Amino acid sequence: MEAPKLQKKVAIVTGGANGIGRAICKILAKEGASVGIVDIDEAGMKGTLEMMSSAHENIHCFVKADISRLEDVKRVFETVEDRLDKCTVLVNNAGIEGVQQLVGDLDENDIDLVLNVNLKGNILMTNEFVKRVKLSDVDNTTNEARGCIVNIASIVGKTGAPGMSIYSASKSGVIGLTKSVAQEYPTSRIRCNAILPGSIDTAMFSRVFQSIPGFNVNAYLQIVPQRRIGTPEEVANVCLHLVSDQSSYVNGVAMEVTGGHAC
Ligand SMILES: NC(=O)c1ccc[n+]([C@@H]2O[C@H](COP(=O)([O-])OP(=O)(O)OC[C@H]3O[C@@H](n4cnc5c(N)ncnc54)[C@H](O)[C@@H]3O)[C@@H](O)[C@H]2O)c1
Repeated sequence: MEAPKLQKKVAIVTGGANGIGRAICKILAKEGASVGIVDIDEAGMKGTLEMMSSAHENIHCFVKADISRLEDVKRVFETVEDRLDKCTVLVNNAGIEGVQQLVGDLDENDIDLVLNVNLKGNILMTNEFVKRVKLSDVDNTTNEARGCIVNIASIVGKTGAPGMSIYSASKSGVIGLTKSVAQEYPTSRIRCNAILPGSIDTAMFSRVFQSIPGFNVNAYLQIVPQRRIGTPEEVANVCLHLVSDQSSYVNGVAMEVTGGHAC
C-alpha cells in the first residue's frame, strides 16, 4: 500500500465548512495530515469534522474565526498549535462572492466586504503562517519545503467577469500575492502556489448563477471544453498535489482547474 503523502503534517484550511474547502479537508486528512478547519460556519465545520473523523484516526480540530480579523487569525494559529502541532501547510480557501452588480452600482460596504475576506483575510493568514514557519528549526539536510501555501483564487482573477469586478479584483490580488510570496523566502523554503478554479459545483456557484436573470447552464457549458461543471474533489486533488512533495519544485504557479475554459 502506498504511504500517505502528508503523514505527520499539520494543515490549516480556511473555509473548510463547505464546498471546495470541505473536500480539501477530507483529502488532506485521508493522506495523513492533521487538519485545523477554520470557518465562520460552526455547524458546517462540525459536519466536515465528522466526515474526516469517521474515516481516519489522526486528530483534527476546528476554530470558529473570521479570517478578515487579525485577532481571530492569531487565535487560529495559537489554537491549532496547541491542539495539533506547528502548522506547515496552509490552504487559503475561504472566500465570498459579494453582490453581482456593475462597478458603478457598488457601494463602499460591498467593496470592503469582498476585499476584506478574499484579499486582506488571505494576506493576514499568510503573514501569521510565514512568521511562525520562519521561527521553526531549519533542517538543512533536506530540500523539503518547510512551509507550503495554496491559495484558492479563481479563473476570473485572470479573465475578469461582468458584474464581478470586486470579486475578480480580489482574486487577481490573490494571484499577485501568491507570486510574490513564492519569491520571498528561499532560505526558509516556503513554497506558495495558487489554484484558479472555473465553475465548481458548490453553494457559491449556485448563488452566483441564480442571481443572473435567465441564466441557462446548458448554454453556458458550450463555452467549457469539457462541457461540464467541476466537482470540489477535482479542485481538492490538485491542492493535494501542490502541498505534497510531489510538487517539490513547483512554486509561484497559478494552476487553472477549469475543464479548459478560458485557458
Ligand atoms: N465554486 C466555484 O465555482 C468557485 C470558482 C472559483 C473560485 N472559487 C473559490 O473557491 C473558494 C471556495 O468556494 P466555494 O465554492 O467552496 O464556496 P462556499 O461558499 O461553498 O464556501 C466558502 C466557505 O468560506 C467560508 N467563509 C466565508 N467568509 C469567511 C470568513 N470571513 N472567515 C472564514 N471563513 C469564511 C464560508 O462560511 C464557507 O464555508 C472561494 O475562495 C471561492 O472564491 C469557487
